[in-house]
Amino acid sequence: MHAAVVHSFDAPPRYGTIDTPQPRGPHEVLVDIVAAGLHPRVRSAADGTHYTCDGTLPMVPGIDGVGRTPEGELLYFVAPDGVPGTMAEYAVVDRRRAVPLPADSDPYAVAAAMNPGMSSWVALRRRVPLPPGASVLVLGATGNAGRLAVRIAKHLGAAHVVAAGRDPERLAVLGDTGGADVTVRLTGGEDDDAGLADAAADVDVVVDYLWGRPTEQALRAVLTARADRARPLAWIQIGSVAGPDITLPSAYLRAANVQLVGSGQGSVGVSDILAELPELAEQFTAGTLSADPLQVPLAEVEKAWTAPVPPEQRIVLTPGG
Ligand SMILES: NC(=O)c1ccc[n+]([C@@H]2O[C@H](COP(=O)([O-])OP(=O)(O)OC[C@H]3O[C@@H](n4cnc5c(N)ncnc54)[C@H](OP(=O)(O)O)[C@@H]3O)[C@@H](O)[C@H]2O)c1
Repeated sequence: MHAAVVHSFDAPPRYGTIDTPQPRGPHEVLVDIVAAGLHPRVRSAADGTHYTCDGTLPMVPGIDGVGRTPEGELLYFVAPDGVPGTMAEYAVVDRRRAVPLPADSDPYAVAAAMNPGMSSWVALRRRVPLPPGASVLVLGATGNAGRLAVRIAKHLGAAHVVAAGRDPERLAVLGDTGGADVTVRLTGGEDDDAGLADAAADVDVVVDYLWGRPTEQALRAVLTARADRARPLAWIQIGSVAGPDITLPSAYLRAANVQLVGSGQGSVGVSDILAELPELAEQFTAGTLSADPLQVPLAEVEKAWTAPVPPEQRIVLTPGG
């Protein structure tokens, strides 16, 4: 079958051929791939930097996708372990890791949105269930996951959502129609402290996609501005687009009732992640949540890998062209 194949962690995958995988037991089925999302997680596996990467090459990237079974059923699925990834004509699906989709759902939107969507959905359901009426700060709200996190926090019961991010135009959209009650522009300068202190001093939960310097700055600004330092604050680490590390002064952990937790593969069990997928998929099918997929034929994977992508869009590779 045709597939995207990574031969070196230093180069984009190339369109090539590999043996078609075969189902290994009663739970597995071979599906025609309709669309597979090119998420940051997929890129980091393909360049060998993801924390789950074991260095094996060649490999077929792709961690999830939408496929059609031989009977015509449409499934969203998370790829099982030990089989080629989803950027291929066919993929093995473990039905226990799959969610049936209504026949009229948009497979491209679902393939684009489930990974960024599940980052906050799983965090706010499985790591730090949202207190009703909570106030939430989304740090790094201008990416695909952050934008969805604003909506998802509201959907899961937040009364007030502060969206903080770099891009002024996308922040404005988040404030106008994206569900954010307040937006804070992050420039990396000292004004950020004042903006975060004003808007987010008393939040209950932070959904953090940034880490690195912006998180160091945000922690300082939010913790020092809190009216009641004993008020619980859950800081959920989800992404690290601004840097892999922070310096964390020990005093922060003594001076405020803050808990730092992460959410992702490992800190949340596979079965817990899978249990959340049907309800999340339903939100995309029902239109409560939406995504903007950019369809690219699988044959063009090598070019697509490095092509600039409008930030509000997510590439989905489509073997069908
Ligand atoms: N743990 C999980 O379960 C999970 C699941 C899915 C994704 N993730 C992670 O979540 C992160 C975001 O994923 P995504 O799908 O939203 O990616 P994305 O669509 O590429 O968005 C990333 C955004 O980060 C912003 N950004 C980059 N550097 C920044 C900086 N220094 N300061 C402020 N903003 C910065 C950019 O916005 P601007 O253009 O405004 O700068 C960009 O739009 C990634 O690290 C991904 O791996 C985690």
